Amino acid sequence: MARYTRARGSLALITLTHPPVNALSAAVRRGLVESVTRALEDEQVKAVVFCGENGIFCGGADIKEFSGSMLGPSLVPMIHNIERGDKPMVAAIEGVALGGGLELALGCHYRIAHTKARLGLPEVTLGLLPAAGGTQRLPRLIGLHAAMELITTGRHVSAREALRLGIVDQVTEGGTVEAAMELALSVIGQPLNLRRLSLRDPVWTPDVEAVCDAALALVKRRSRGAMAPVACVQSVRAAAMLPYSKGIEREKQLMGTIFESGQARAMQYAFFAQRNAGKWSLPNGAQWNNTKPRDVQRAGVIGLGTMGRGIAVSLIKAGIPVVALEMDAKQLELGKNAVTGILQRDAQRRGISPPLDLLTFTLSFHQLRDVDLVIEAVFEDMNLKKRVFSDLSKVLRVDALICTNTSGLNIDELAAVIDRPPLVVGMHFFAPAHVMKLLEVVYGTRSSPEAVATVMALGKRIGKVCVAVGNCPGFVGNRMLKHYLDQSVFLLEEGATPEEVDQALEEFGFAMGIFKVADLSGLDVGWRVRKASGLIGPDVDPVKPSRWRLGRRYCPLPDMLCQQGRLGQKTGRGWYVYESPGSKEAKSNPEIRNFLEDYRHKYGIEPRHITSQEVIERCALALANEGFRILEDGIVASPEDIDMIYLFGYGWPRHRGGPMFYASQVGLSVVLKKLEHYHRLHPDVPSLEPSRLLRRLVAVGSPPIQQWRTHLSNLRSHL
Ligand code: COA
Ligand code: ADP
Repeated sequence: MARYTRARGSLALITLTHPPVNALSAAVRRGLVESVTRALEDEQVKAVVFCGENGIFCGGADIKEFSGSMLGPSLVPMIHNIERGDKPMVAAIEGVALGGGLELALGCHYRIAHTKARLGLPEVTLGLLPAAGGTQRLPRLIGLHAAMELITTGRHVSAREALRLGIVDQVTEGGTVEAAMELALSVIGQPLNLRRLSLRDPVWTPDVEAVCDAALALVKRRSRGAMAPVACVQSVRAAAMLPYSKGIEREKQLMGTIFESGQARAMQYAFFAQRNAGKWSLPNGAQWNNTKPRDVQRAGVIGLGTMGRGIAVSLIKAGIPVVALEMDAKQLELGKNAVTGILQRDAQRRGISPPLDLLTFTLSFHQLRDVDLVIEAVFEDMNLKKRVFSDLSKVLRVDALICTNTSGLNIDELAAVIDRPPLVVGMHFFAPAHVMKLLEVVYGTRSSPEAVATVMALGKRIGKVCVAVGNCPGFVGNRMLKHYLDQSVFLLEEGATPEEVDQALEEFGFAMGIFKVADLSGLDVGWRVRKASGLIGPDVDPVKPSRWRLGRRYCPLPDMLCQQGRLGQKTGRGWYVYESPGSKEAKSNPEIRNFLEDYRHKYGIEPRHITSQEVIERCALALANEGFRILEDGIVASPEDIDMIYLFGYGWPRHRGGPMFYASQVGLSVVLKKLEHYHRLHPDVPSLEPSRLLRRLVAVGSPPIQQWRTHLSNLRSHL
């Protein structure tokens, strides 16, 4: 809806009213068309101001409408009509002007923004392009280069940056609507043609081709296989080469090719799934949303290794004072230098002073006595963690939360060593913790709703995408990852090379193939886990590797690499070779080819050609199959939660939604058939055996992913 009021005698004020973000739903568009017509027809109205209710200008097209048939007036002629209007039109931007919201503002003759407002054309993040004239008007306003960057990344800019780029004419500290009205009154009667962006010539410059080629190369590298960024480049290019009327046709045509695509659906699914993950509930349907989180005013971090440093930085950047504790002076000094260094570099980039006064470094547990919550990030060793928990329980306030950054140890076992298990929650961060967005919030059987709510709220406050998960080995992400890793090394045994597997995964959309990731993280990480779980040990001699362990197929290749000291980037050799230890550029390793050939020869394996299709099917479907098992076990409430874990923690390509969404797009019955096929070929790989839930879902007609949750509760009682 849009509210029409008269103001200051000669002004019309049109207010978008569609909470929470005034998205341009059919009703809002209808209201806008009617209000603009009314303002243009009313002779007493000399200028028009557009604003949004509740301090938010507009969050863009209503994404919920994309899945149905589009009703109501379309945006392009509506915005054109506003621009063509013979009375000055002024956009008063508070909160956000995103997507269609900014396109509406670009149709206005003047734009004024509150200093805290954010502006952008984020359509590319939804698998789309700004198709209400955005790709044609923005370049004409701010130039090809800047528009290309904003449109292909979907980046939001602050009001100040918008002013600098020329997107807005003024920035206000307060009273944006008032200021817009002043501006409107001051320009009444002035000519408008120069302010009508569609009347401007194409933004041709001699380096058009170079700018477009560079942009194309960049988006192809950054978002492999994604169609929308490429369409964005092509559409912006049209703004440089074609008159507006032709450019807008090209924009429409390009939008037509991607609007109905699976990629757009996947990214829109991810948009809502990300927001739903925050509204967590338990797999049994119990809603914990009503539980009030506690305020965390001061936090403790134990252990300033890789994880602890990133966790401390995340907390500090959110303005939460941190007491950071290490076990000895040397480690403390190292940790302190690392944390302050990250904060200083970040502050320098943002032109602010580093908030170092929020940090206290200590060797004494007593310094933790006032904190509201502590996160331990010591070595991944159950006995050590138990000792730390017990030490903490002696000094912390009785109501302080005790969180652990374990990546897979049993939360209940840890909680049992202290006298307050309800206050124990897992916080599984991903490295580097100040960069990676995912936080698995792990609740144990005795974690209190209030403790979980507090951790979920804290995670959100420090900018994480939080997913509540139950307690099981590896939780969700690492439990699934194991099967993905297994498949990738089995493929090597059967005939593939690390490069072939990685290339298939990168073409699928992963930023990095699994073997490059393994080299980056260090092959010894998994080696330690396998040793601790008894897969390698005195009874299973790694010197005489066997391809079976505990009755299942087991690939000892990674262990053999570790034994040879090939631990990845840090040693300059792993699945790939690196110029020097620590260097990042992965180069093919001829020694690995020989190593694999010798291995296959030793075990009498006849190598075969492995297609990229098989790589994707075995890796992605093994992930999804374990995801179904996780749902069966009630470890997460919905498939969306699993997908968010993979999107934000494991580099799954956003335009493919997540492993569960991918399975739903491939078709559950197809997934079932493929898994049956692969399991027949590899009966000693239990993870390829189709899960019961998958079979059930196929049996009830493969419902859409949004309905699995309903079916899940019905099915759980039968499972
Ligand atoms: N269409 C439909 N619903 C939208 C929406 C849109 N364009 N933008 C936001 N919403 C909904 C969200 O789904 C959420 O609904 P919920 O409360 O039922 O979960 C609610 O508005 C609040 O959004 P949220 O993202 O949780 O709030 P925020 O304050 O953190 O962020 C925005 C607000 C506008 C910055 C953010 O929602 C956003 O980026 N929206 C998308 C903008 C966009 O891409 N527009 C172009 C569309 S083509
Ligand atoms: P991760 O990669 O999980 O962060 P690291 O090995 O990098 O693991 O870091 C673990 C950190 O925990 C080290 O800096 C170590 O000094 C610290 N640490 C280990 N035990 C204790 C303890 N009892 N108290 C405080 N810090 C500890």
